[in-house]
Amino acid sequence: AQESREQWNHQAGFILAAIGSAVGLGNIWRFPGVAYSSGSGAFLIPYLIALLTAGIPILFLDYAIGHRFRAAPPLAFRRMAKWAEPLGWFQTGLLFVIGIYYAAVIAWAMSYFVFSFDLRWGDDPATFFVSEYLQVGDPVVSTTPVWGVLIPMALVWILMLVVLLLGVANGIGKLNMIFIPLLVVIFTALVIRALFLPGALDGLDAFFTPDWAALADPNVWIAAYAQIFFSLSIAFGIMITYASYQRRKANMTSSGLVVAFANSSFELLAGIGVFATLGFMAHQANTQVSELEGLTGPILSFVTFPKVIAEMPGGNIFGMLFFASLVLAGVTSLISIMQGVSASVQEKFSIDRIKAGLIVSILMGAVSLFLFSTTSGLIALDTVDMWSNNIGIVLSAIVMSILTIWIMRRGRELRIHLNAVSTFKVGPWWTVLVGILGPVVLGFMLVQRVITLITEGYEGYPGWYIGVFGWGTIAFVFIVSVVFTLIPWRRKEFSDAQFNA
Ligand code: PHE
Ligand code: NA
Repeated sequence: AQESREQWNHQAGFILAAIGSAVGLGNIWRFPGVAYSSGSGAFLIPYLIALLTAGIPILFLDYAIGHRFRAAPPLAFRRMAKWAEPLGWFQTGLLFVIGIYYAAVIAWAMSYFVFSFDLRWGDDPATFFVSEYLQVGDPVVSTTPVWGVLIPMALVWILMLVVLLLGVANGIGKLNMIFIPLLVVIFTALVIRALFLPGALDGLDAFFTPDWAALADPNVWIAAYAQIFFSLSIAFGIMITYASYQRRKANMTSSGLVVAFANSSFELLAGIGVFATLGFMAHQANTQVSELEGLTGPILSFVTFPKVIAEMPGGNIFGMLFFASLVLAGVTSLISIMQGVSASVQEKFSIDRIKAGLIVSILMGAVSLFLFSTTSGLIALDTVDMWSNNIGIVLSAIVMSILTIWIMRRGRELRIHLNAVSTFKVGPWWTVLVGILGPVVLGFMLVQRVITLITEGYEGYPGWYIGVFGWGTIAFVFIVSVVFTLIPWRRKEFSDAQFNA
């Protein structure tokens, strides 16, 4: 059959897009806080081990599946075994869920970019963020729109629509070609500026001084594996989709190593920048970094940082650089999510890119605006994020590894496929890591999380709320996998799943 599939313009297009997907909000607002609270300097050890034993091997697995079976997750898995299609929809469903809240955070960063001009948040950024900007209400489903959030969110969705319609090479490829270099320049400037702030070195000290005892804590290891998964965007079906647009003869493993290295470097850089800034904050307050509060999650970026920015000479510029970085990093990740969903729909219903792009971005945009631009947005986001990342993605990774290696027995074939065109050769160790170590470590993580969430609940939210937005998220993804699998394929050659890779 002739190949009408979209393709990246060149190898660099693919690599930049893959880096764009990997480098995201997770690097800037998640990594520094996670590392700090999980042993600081000592965290680098579990982090590196997680990267080498699970991160890179599963990244290669995603690449191999996408490149060999040349499709988005549902069709790629179907081509491996007809009954495996639901796993593809499970990943697509997760992308749907993550995309709708990721867009909200990008929108907040856009607003805060503008607020940086006049330091709009004043001297109580916590109250400003929660009460004035987000207008957070009780954890109920509210339909009261918050215009300050709704408008930037709508802009994000319009941008997604336009880029999707322009396609893989001219839309996504070009977007990353501009945004990624820009992000590197802006973020580097930000980190250099931060290093010259008084107290910066104390911040780095706090960040890098190892707490060796942390290594004995299984939660620290769990945190390292979870961070690596989210951060590399693996087991979401994104890298499967992106790799499916690579030319047949493309060096897959080497680009994988470049992407993994770039992502981790960016993470370290973010840790340095963030902690240098926090060192300055402690210096101003005449205290220690360890005494500071609000170092994780949305609070770090939208409350703690604004506070520091307000105390800094030239804070406006610093704020603009910081929030611009969040927007750039976020947009290039969100577009990878959108392409994953759009390509799945495109193949299943045999519709063209334009139609799929329109349907997917309008649908996701509408749901996203409905759920996250209202006064209950922040709380819903927090809950959906917890369940999709700590349960959904881990489950997806476990099932994917076990099915591919043990049930479908494709390990050897995929390894040979990778090695056929790549310069970095993958040895049998790869199958062991993906097939045995991965599922064992991840299985342990999953059980641990499920038990904690069931016995302790989450953030004290009411049970019905956790049921709807937490477990409901997972139930939703399961329903998506069943329903979409049951819909018949429009093209016979896809439903037969005959595929000569
Ligand atoms: N890897 C991205 C980050 O670090 C997050 C992401 C997850 C992006 C899943 C796309 C899909 O922020
Ligand atoms: Na990342």
